[in-house]
Amino acid sequence: MSRTITLLPGDGIGPEVTAATLRVLTAAGADFEYESMIAGAEAVAQGGDPLPDAVIESVRRNRIALKGPVTTPVGRGFQSVNVRLRKALELYANLRPLRTLEGVPSRFEDVDLVVVRENTEGLYSGLEHEVVPGVVESLKIITEKASTRIARFAFEYARRQGRSRVTAVHKANIMKLSDGLFLDCFRQVAEEYPDIQADDRIIDNMCMQLVTHPERFDVLVLENLYGDIVSDLGAGLVGGLGVVPGANIGESMAVFEAVHGSAPDIAGQDLANPLALIHSAVLMLRYLKEDAIAARIDAAIQTVLGAGQRTRDLGGDLGTSAFTDALVAAIEAD
Ligand code: NAI
Repeated sequence: MSRTITLLPGDGIGPEVTAATLRVLTAAGADFEYESMIAGAEAVAQGGDPLPDAVIESVRRNRIALKGPVTTPVGRGFQSVNVRLRKALELYANLRPLRTLEGVPSRFEDVDLVVVRENTEGLYSGLEHEVVPGVVESLKIITEKASTRIARFAFEYARRQGRSRVTAVHKANIMKLSDGLFLDCFRQVAEEYPDIQADDRIIDNMCMQLVTHPERFDVLVLENLYGDIVSDLGAGLVGGLGVVPGANIGESMAVFEAVHGSAPDIAGQDLANPLALIHSAVLMLRYLKEDAIAARIDAAIQTVLGAGQRTRDLGGDLGTSAFTDALVAAIEAD
């Protein structure tokens, strides 16, 4: 029986990159049923909650979702659908593999990093209030439970993937209590993994080292805000937001999504690069142990990029549809 996946195409370029990804999955032989759901601005326009209960129930039931980007209003308006979804489903680990790809122009040739970001607390706890007019307080929450859990996830991931080193990134020299706790938990967990090298860097120094010698790092583990920023910095090292995948993983379920947003500047123009969501689908296939299908898609991506076929964000001239046609043709020729 085929597996059912919750599908959230999102808005902006979301529906375009989702359609491309489904074409590639089908061509490669993935036998999934999709339960397509609406969230974000479209759900609000239909008079409802931006994250309807039905969406959360669908992911809980299917345990897997593939998600396109959802626009979040800046300042006033509804709370980020992404943040709410991660919290509601306890998707505590955000995983972003960042690897240079042949045929994708980038400043470095040998980047192979994995950013593991704590997804449930830090400054994203949404605890903000106005103390007096003109003074606002945002609370950064760091707990022993979440810090230990994310450190263990990073070491387990490193061990499973045959990686040799995990680096904790923090600002414990200034935020001695909050980041200090995060670092203490990391060091305690590291003792359980003597086969994996463990070290740490202060976040500002880390950013400098990443833009000068990214090849020196392996797995990075960070609290929420640093992880958010460093994973986009990392995307810039390997060709930009159009190619980088992401996954939000909990104890028994996972949501796979591209790192990029809804890109309103290019939405509806057949200009979006679908590779980020396709790479996220490949991560999903590997999570589901569908390695043969994942390998087929990876091989087609290499063939197409290697032949110089690229979308505009990567310096090519193909639109979303033509690039997807090339991928499907490469899969079928395999
Ligand atoms: P963005 O990622 O949508 O766009 C940044 C720049 O990258 C734009 O110039 C865009 O054209 C380009 N870009 C992004 N994805 C691309 C792709 N696949 N192919 C080619 N070019 C691509 O970031 P922005 O503009 O800051 O955010 C737009 C909206 O998306 C906001 O409402 C934001 O809250 C939301 N957002 C949603 C995310 C999600 O649902 N996971 C993640 C990040 C942002």
